[in-house]
Amino acid sequence: MIRKNAVGTTIGDPAAGRAASGSASHAARHEARLIWSGNKGLFALLEAARHAGPLTRVPRLGWVVTDPVLARRVLNDHAHFGMVGEGGVGHMWSQLFGEEMGQFFGGARHTEVRTKARDLFTEESARELVERSQGAHYAALAGRLAAGATIDVADSTRVLAGRLVSDLMGLPTDRDDDAYRQVFAAGERLAALAMGTTASTELDSRVLGQARAIVDEITAGVDDAYRTAGSGTILGRCREMDLGLPLARGLATLLAIAGTETGASGTSRTVALLHDTGQQRSLLSDPSLMDNAVREGLRVSTPAPVIGRHVARDTTIAGRRLHEGDRILLLTYLATTSVGPFDIRRDYVPETRQLWFGGGRHLCLGAAVARTQVARMLQTLLSQGRPYQVVSRRAAARVLVPTYASLRVRIAAAENF
Ligand code: HEM
Repeated sequence: MIRKNAVGTTIGDPAAGRAASGSASHAARHEARLIWSGNKGLFALLEAARHAGPLTRVPRLGWVVTDPVLARRVLNDHAHFGMVGEGGVGHMWSQLFGEEMGQFFGGARHTEVRTKARDLFTEESARELVERSQGAHYAALAGRLAAGATIDVADSTRVLAGRLVSDLMGLPTDRDDDAYRQVFAAGERLAALAMGTTASTELDSRVLGQARAIVDEITAGVDDAYRTAGSGTILGRCREMDLGLPLARGLATLLAIAGTETGASGTSRTVALLHDTGQQRSLLSDPSLMDNAVREGLRVSTPAPVIGRHVARDTTIAGRRLHEGDRILLLTYLATTSVGPFDIRRDYVPETRQLWFGGGRHLCLGAAVARTQVARMLQTLLSQGRPYQVVSRRAAARVLVPTYASLRVRIAAAENF
């Protein structure tokens, strides 16, 4: 259990960091503190369900799944579990953008859009996108580290996420860092409104009004981009498919949320985990472990810790009868972290596969982009051939996706490694 008085303060002074570094429990304490500080409801839910069985019924919440194989079964069973309807994220989107957007998640349009956008999300496209939209920022970070400066990885992840989704959508990419911090902040504020929806995805009129104002901010450039963006962008593709502006605005907002907070959280937490568990040296001496390090960072952080679904038809799983209209929460965080602590020498785990990216027809479209970003940040931090040191850190407060508000690192002095 974490200590309340330590939350929200600067918790990693270099001396303390050095003394405690290299331990799995040290890393786990930082992770627990992030979740507690970011999202108290989530923290309580995870603690309560930690010792529950694979499928449990919880009053007011509905069904709760903690087992990775069962979670994937639900994600793959589109006949019985849906996103549209109370409990699914599509329910919230339909209240914001109308029925067409809500139905989008469960309909043929969804398959069509995914198929037509697939080439924008391959491993190669991901590398090109990350380099084009973020390459200059990584080069500048490497230069500052080489000069002995301290950099804030968490701030960089926010700027980088804003730059990436703007490029991918077809919005302007030539603005200064502050403009992209604002793109990120708007997505974060909109996502935070969803924090009160664990018990119900029905939004009240006050929340809807706030959400609509944020959506207007996020989609300010969408009308223009829908008319003019190139075919290598999401909005350009929306135009070619004649999706119409309302759906294009919905998809742009979806991307501004899906592609920012999770990616930023996964990146800064992987940076911290590699440091806190003392495994940088292994990666420096064997760079072929990079894919493992990224996979482990995303597994242990699982930035989308809960996935909700609506029970669309009566069904039986794990010997329990679920009824149409029930809701079900897949606690992916517990399902993936039960495997064990961050270990860059851990082999691929068949039970979890990549559950942190979901599964089935809604499997994260940006998985290759997310992995590339994390790898690119680790390569930047290790580019001096020496480990980095966390100078200070601060957990973000009241956010949907637990993350670092600040994670300041510098290259360790030669005598420290
Ligand atoms: C570490 C980073 C990321 C994690 C952990 C993550 C996780 C997820 C998960 C769990 C889902 C499925 C949600 C559900 O089934 O209800 C999802 C969907 C999605 N993600 Fe990601 N995501 C990440 C980064 C990204 C990035 C960088 C992008 C875009 C560039 C992106 C775009 C999407 C989209 C468009 C969907 C919706 C797919 C659909 O409904 O067909 N994600 N993500």
